[in-house]
Formats: sequence, C-alpha cells, structure tokens
Amino acid sequence: MQNFVYAYPTKVYFGKGAAKDHLAGILRDYGPNVLLAYGGGSIKKNGIYDEITGILKAAGKTVTEFSGIMSNPTFAKVEEGARLAQDCKADLILAVGGGSVIDCCKIVAAQAVTEEDLWEVEMVRHGAPQGKPIPLGAVVTASGTGAEMNGGAVITNEKAKIKGGMFAAAPQFALLDPDYTMSLPRMQVLSGAFDTLSHAMETYLGRSDRDNVSDEVALAVMRSTVVNMRTLLKDIHDYTARSNLMWTSAMAENGILKVGRVTDFECHQIEHQLGAYTDCNHGQGLAVLHPAYYRHIAGDAADKFARMAQAVWEIGPAGKTNQQLAQDCVQALTDFIAACGLPSKLSQLHTKAEITPALLREVADSTNLLANGPRQLTHDEVYEILMECL
Ligand code: NZQ
Ligand code: ZN
Repeated sequence: MQNFVYAYPTKVYFGKGAAKDHLAGILRDYGPNVLLAYGGGSIKKNGIYDEITGILKAAGKTVTEFSGIMSNPTFAKVEEGARLAQDCKADLILAVGGGSVIDCCKIVAAQAVTEEDLWEVEMVRHGAPQGKPIPLGAVVTASGTGAEMNGGAVITNEKAKIKGGMFAAAPQFALLDPDYTMSLPRMQVLSGAFDTLSHAMETYLGRSDRDNVSDEVALAVMRSTVVNMRTLLKDIHDYTARSNLMWTSAMAENGILKVGRVTDFECHQIEHQLGAYTDCNHGQGLAVLHPAYYRHIAGDAADKFARMAQAVWEIGPAGKTNQQLAQDCVQALTDFIAACGLPSKLSQLHTKAEITPALLREVADSTNLLANGPRQLTHDEVYEILMECL
C-alpha cells in the first residue's frame, strides 16, 4: 500500500423512490435559490423533470433552469452555467442527468465563485480552483461514469481541441434511483456499463503492490459488472441488474478502488482525445479502443491479465502460461464487446467529423501519455492503436 488520505465527500441515497423519499428533507439544508441543471430534454419525456420540480416547488425554492448540457460538455457551456449561477445567486446547484450534466455542474459550481478562467487555471497553469464552490447535488439518470461520487470532471475545450480532466468539489449528495435510468436507450445502458468495466480495469492495471486489497475489489467490480450486463442482454429492463450496475458504477469511481495504488487510465486518455475531435460517445469509444490497447500491453502485465482472465472471464489456467492467459483475457473481452452489440470499429461510432488517418494522427499526437500503466506508450504507438481500430 502506498500512503493515502481517503474521505467520502458525498452522501448517497440509493434505491426506488430516492428523490421522492429524501430530496425534500435534503433541501432544508440549503438556501432558497436553486439552479436546476439538465441535458437535452430526456428528463421532460420520462417524468423526472416534473417529479423534481414538484419537490422543489413544494419546498418553496426559487428555481432557475440551466438546460441543454450536451454529452461531452464544453467549457463554453460551463461559462454559461456559471453566469446563470451568479445571476440567480444560487445556494444549490442540482444536476439532474448523467455524467455530462454532473461534470459540467462541478465546474460551474467552482467557476461561479471566481473571476479567474478555470480552464486557464487548471489546464494551462495546472493550478487549483480558489474559493468555496457553490454546493452541488446530483440526481443520476444515466449510470456508468460514477461522476456522482467524485470531484473530477471531463470537459471539452472546443477551440483547443482538448477533452481533459478538471477538478472541483464532488457533489455533497447524490440520489441514485435505478428506475430513473429505465428510459435510457439500450445502447446507452450498455455503453455506460462498459465505462464502469473500463474504470475498474484501468484502475486494476495501474501499478499495485503484492496482495493489494484494491486489486481484489477491482476484480469483484469487473466480475459483477460483466454478470449484470449479461443479464441485461436478456432483459434490458431487469431492475436487479440495473440497480447492481448503478452501484458498481459508483464503486468504480468513488476512489475506493484507487486507495494505496496508482492507476493506468491510458485508454481513457486516448478516448478523451478521440472525443475532443469527433464528439463520440464515451463508453462506445472505450469499447472500440480497449481491445486494441490491451493487445499492445498485455505482454507487459501478463500476470495481472492472467489473474483477470480467471477472476472475471472464468478461463481455466490448466496447462497455460500467464502470457497465454493474458491473450485469452483480451480475446474474452473482445468477444464480450461483440456479444453486447457495442461497436468494435471507429467507423461504427456516431461522430461529427469523418475519421481519417490524418485526424487520428492529430488525436494520437495530442493524447496524454501516462506513466503508471504496464508500459508508457509513445504518440506513434497510440497512432498504431487508433489505426488498428479503423
Ligand atoms: O441530454 P439528455 O436529453 O438528458 O440525454 C442524455 C444523453 O443523450 C441521455 N439520457 C440521460 N439520462 C437519460 C437519458 N435518456 C433517457 N432516459 C434517461 N434517464 O443519455 C445520453 C448520454 O448522457 P451523458 O450524460 O452524456 O452520458 P454519460 O453518463 O455516459 O456521461 C458521459 C460524460 O462523462 C464523462 C465522459 O467523458 C463524458 O463526457 N466521464 C466522467 C467521469 C467522471 N466525472 O468521473 C468519468 C468517466 O470516465 C467519463 O470520462
Ligand atoms: Zn470513463
């Protein structure tokens, strides 16, 4: 174990009826002005908007709406939200949505209390936001990212063509009702769950020392995510599987898997830059990239991949070397992605830009290269990986 400090900043209310049962009570701790943030309108179709605004009204809150937060939220959208939060003197920002809405609001909460440009502060000067952010609460309508239980936010700067991780305060509370996710399109359910699997794999493949409990927890999260995704392939609305996945999603990104060890997250770095250039869906981008990335690095962490082969994919070790088991592990992951109907080629992603070798070269050259995975890649190798996914 490496040295660490660990604290849980977010109070979680989990289960059917979470908002109906708890939101009114939670709101008593906050002042009268609420900035209600949401995405492109799904919450108006599935009744969540009516339920939440009904509770806010009954609690006597003055509500200002911040709507239209897009998938892969932009820094321009953060600035719009920060202006609204200042104008309405928000006492609380309530983010109702998936990772995109929650991430955008984390930075809105910090940007609204400073005159400094937080992109400049964090992404250019590598500093930390100053000032006490506006309190934030999350009502999760799409699970997978785990954004509701951490302080990280992934924001796109369209001008700079960078999709990068910023940091602010985590939500003070999060309401997780699996029923709120039932209206999600099938592909978003599966790509969100794949994102969770990716988080656990990326964490596990960072360097850890012998017999590390965080490795054991990561393997359990992977196994549970795969089992519940398989259940969803038979019945996408299976409540038990949806609720299990909602919690594995939070578990994978609430920091518990990361204590006392470093993490990999190189595949996320590549996907984020792919997102910056193409606006592709996060979980689907990861599904395309993971097998190719792992084919490149499996030999550098054969023992860990071999353990994953057995613990997650139930591959018997008899007569096999760890190198062979590592290859089997990558193949099992590839087969699972295909069985889920997730994309396996870049051409299957819905993108706003045509994916060409020239574009992939730019993606590769602007990808962050991290040092804590099985082996540090070069920009040329990132390009090779991307080209293998064409
Ligand atoms: O915008 P609306 O109309 O609400 O539609 C959304 C969006 O189109 C829809 N949706 C959400 N809840 C729904 C629903 N549709 C029907 N019924 C519901 N209940 O789903 C679509 C996707 O939503 P989005 O929030 O974009 O997806 P996700 O939760 O996958 O978030 C992706 C973002 O999170 C970042 C990603 O990079 C990406 O920008 N991540 C954040 C992380 C974090 N903060 O810890 C970690 C992750 O690795 C990830 O990078
Ligand atoms: Zn992710």
